[in-house]
Amino acid sequence: MANDKVSIHGAWASRWVFILAATGSAVGLGNIWKFPYMTGMYGGGAFVMMYLVCIFMVGLPIMLAETLIGRRGRQSPVNTLKALAIESGASPKWSWAALMGMIAALLILSFYSVVAGWSLDYILSMGSGQFAGVSAEGAGAAFGALTADPWRLTLWHTLFMLLTGFVIARGVVAGLERSLRIMMPLLFVLLLVLLGYSMTTGHFMQGFHFLFNFQPDRVLDGVLAAMGHAFFTLSVGVGAIMVYGSYMPKNASIGSTILTVGILDTLVALTAGMALFPIVFAGGLEPSAGPGLMFVTLPVAFGNIAFGQVMGTLFFVLVLIAAWTSSISMLEPAVAYLVERSKRSRVLVTSVLAFVCWVIGMGTVLSFNLGAEAKFFVFSDDGFHLFQWGAEGGRNFFDSIDYLTSRILLPLGGLSFAVFAGWVLKREAVREELAMKSPLLFNLVYWFIRVVAPIGVLIVFVAELSK
Ligand code: PFF
Repeated sequence: MANDKVSIHGAWASRWVFILAATGSAVGLGNIWKFPYMTGMYGGGAFVMMYLVCIFMVGLPIMLAETLIGRRGRQSPVNTLKALAIESGASPKWSWAALMGMIAALLILSFYSVVAGWSLDYILSMGSGQFAGVSAEGAGAAFGALTADPWRLTLWHTLFMLLTGFVIARGVVAGLERSLRIMMPLLFVLLLVLLGYSMTTGHFMQGFHFLFNFQPDRVLDGVLAAMGHAFFTLSVGVGAIMVYGSYMPKNASIGSTILTVGILDTLVALTAGMALFPIVFAGGLEPSAGPGLMFVTLPVAFGNIAFGQVMGTLFFVLVLIAAWTSSISMLEPAVAYLVERSKRSRVLVTSVLAFVCWVIGMGTVLSFNLGAEAKFFVFSDDGFHLFQWGAEGGRNFFDSIDYLTSRILLPLGGLSFAVFAGWVLKREAVREELAMKSPLLFNLVYWFIRVVAPIGVLIVFVAELSK
């Protein structure tokens, strides 16, 4: 039996609430917005294949590791790692891994809020019938007009950050649990409706082929991107799942719970891909269009089907909710930590952190318009520059934060958590938390946490460096 400690921040009523919360965190813009556009940018099947391998070999073991660490520690990730390290006779500096994760989560929130804001805008434009009968070109122009307008972006970004702060300030799931129970299944149903529409475009097989056609020669192109995205989509490597684990009932089975979350998350991403790509091909759009992909394809689909106005509006409402249930999990680790540390109220801590994320998010707002030429991390013929205006091939602010978090901080965070659960915690402690009936299964899972996942992350890093 696991320990009897309870977190000072609260506890989930049951294992089901943990599943809802963790699925709410995992299923978000990463599945519906980012997965399709990254697949498009990295050439399709090769990326999808690497993504699936990373999810099952690396992502899920790390998710298990985070959950069990969280439940054993029952504090914010930083203090949990500190306490468990000391208990296991290791250095308290392990808490730095959680500190890094916490910062990564806040950085992700800063751009996530801007993109979630786009869906707020789309709820209005869909709802007002602006996309009725729209062509692919028209939808592209509408998206371009939105991102070119810093004021409009700022308005929605601000509103979304307020929504996120509001829920976190009030305490975790009280209100969301009920709506999540209805909303998540509805999101799935609407995705299936969309899939139905894309089957009628006549390009379904082309889309399918694009997603699942494995080209071995392109594997190395997107492998680090695939690994980074596997972390992003499962919300691992930052302590979000760890903090949720700290509110989990002591006798819930972690293994089957995490598997459920991982499978649901993967299904939503694949369904979104299968729904969007046929529309891309039917509309003569570019699969490699980048971040605008979803916002250009969906209006075309909903603008051209019966009841599209209602369904399209509803769809963006659900995208918003999916984003909302993810964004709160980005804020929670830092809020929990600062409440523990400063003994200040949750409301105050949340307000300060949400404001900081809002300010950083303004960098992303501007990177689509006025600041598009401000480039960071520039590798050019005359060497490396941290910042250069108008540099060819550099990353704008949004790309830089995305790169820094997904490609570097999340994998490093995940690696540390897996190593911590596998090598720092005592085997008995892990066995107790996982409480698996079959010793064989336990050994297998433990081996994945200890060996497979860490080596997987390292191999991808090395492969990328030696490219
Ligand atoms: N998993 C979320 C998504 O796919 O949209 C993104 C995310 C949530 C990343 C929470 C990190 C995090 F802590």
